[in-house]
Amino acid sequence: MTAKYGFYYEEGHDDLLFMDQTSVKLIIERLSSPPTPFVLYSLNQFRQNIDKYQNELHKLAPIRGRLSYSMKANYNPRLLTILKSAKAMLTTVSGGEMQLALSAGFEPSSIIYNGNGKTDESIQMAIDSGVLLNVDSLFDLEVILHYARQLNKIANVLIRVNPNLSDSNVHAYNVTASKTSKFGTNIDELEPIYKLIEQNDDKWIRLFGFHCHLGSTISNTQIISGCVKKLIELFNTKRFPHLRILNIGGGLNIDYKRYAKRTKNDDEEHIAIPTIGDYIQSIKDSIESFPHSIELVVEPGRSLIANSCVLITRVLGQKQTGSIRQLIVDASMTECIRPALYQAYHHIDTVNSLSTEERILFDIVGPVCESGDFLGKQRCLPKILKRGDFLAVFDVGAYCSSMSSNYNMRPRPAEYALDEQEQIQILKKRETNEDLLRTYCVA
Ligand SMILES: Cc1ncc(COP(=O)(O)O)c(C=O)c1O
Repeated sequence: MTAKYGFYYEEGHDDLLFMDQTSVKLIIERLSSPPTPFVLYSLNQFRQNIDKYQNELHKLAPIRGRLSYSMKANYNPRLLTILKSAKAMLTTVSGGEMQLALSAGFEPSSIIYNGNGKTDESIQMAIDSGVLLNVDSLFDLEVILHYARQLNKIANVLIRVNPNLSDSNVHAYNVTASKTSKFGTNIDELEPIYKLIEQNDDKWIRLFGFHCHLGSTISNTQIISGCVKKLIELFNTKRFPHLRILNIGGGLNIDYKRYAKRTKNDDEEHIAIPTIGDYIQSIKDSIESFPHSIELVVEPGRSLIANSCVLITRVLGQKQTGSIRQLIVDASMTECIRPALYQAYHHIDTVNSLSTEERILFDIVGPVCESGDFLGKQRCLPKILKRGDFLAVFDVGAYCSSMSSNYNMRPRPAEYALDEQEQIQILKKRETNEDLLRTYCVA
């Protein structure tokens, strides 16, 4: 029997929440009265997600498929170590991320630096170290050429193209390739960029390929294959001798509602989410007739790390406000902003066994002084939940820690994992009040 990994409820074991082979209840006991909230990582789940992508990408052979993790989803350095041993690339979106990627030992040619507004310093860092830059616009190209000349180096680039394709199920804040998006250059308006690259080709710049990213939480693989087809047409112009990389970005959603049946929230709207296999197959179908010298890059963030983490929180109390039963917990929008920002769903459930208890509907809210601070609305949870009981907020690996804040002077939480011997590893310490005040200058 293969070992289970990730987060799951072991029905035969009194309905406890498990992480890999260990109950979360036991981990909490071992941490002995840990401050909450805190984040638990199943690094095995993360490794499995990487393996899944890489196995599927191998099926594109003879075309080379490469995995580039989008660091913005979660830049915990422990994840970068795992990605490095898996020979993955990294996609970065700031000078800070690029610097972390370089100091983690990634080859500059395995790092992509993307952004619609890059600082002078970050452009210089990318050119000087040999990182692959995405040219977002004509002005971006002009600045890149300026620094290539100044540094007397060749800038290695892809062009970020906007093919004007989007998934109608995606929240507006997660769409990045609509006609009026702030990212990339419209696919029909590339000529001025081509001309400027041609004038400087092989002297200050080398165009290696095209990049696009349609957005995040995508569950429609048809737009992915549509995008691949549009980018392939660009390759056929053959105006540039070094063209070989087709980077189709990230964006695959995960099934955030897969646990919902357990708590009988059956009325939750449920969209079928393609697997990593379905996603890569949709690409394969579109590139079959393409030259074998091509390298195809995918740069997922969410679908690599989201399901590898839970946020553990304590109940602070319950109260009735009009028709709503409020369950107040000590986690909030400062650790998990996605519900407040775009009404995203995160499953929330018990850590210990309360499976026989009557469940009622609660709004699960945090203590932050903001009405938009909620983690879940109308969720079925045990009526008897009381102060001190633990709950788990699922699938917080992506865009939670990396989007966290100190709003209301709240320290960012500790992050833990288990090592090979199932011993607790601290990946990140909980911030102190002193940490929060460190950069202020006047007392
Ligand atoms: C350029 C780029 N690539 C990849 C990603 C990763 O997207 P996701 O986490 O949805 O896979 C993002 C995120 O928005 C991005 O901006």
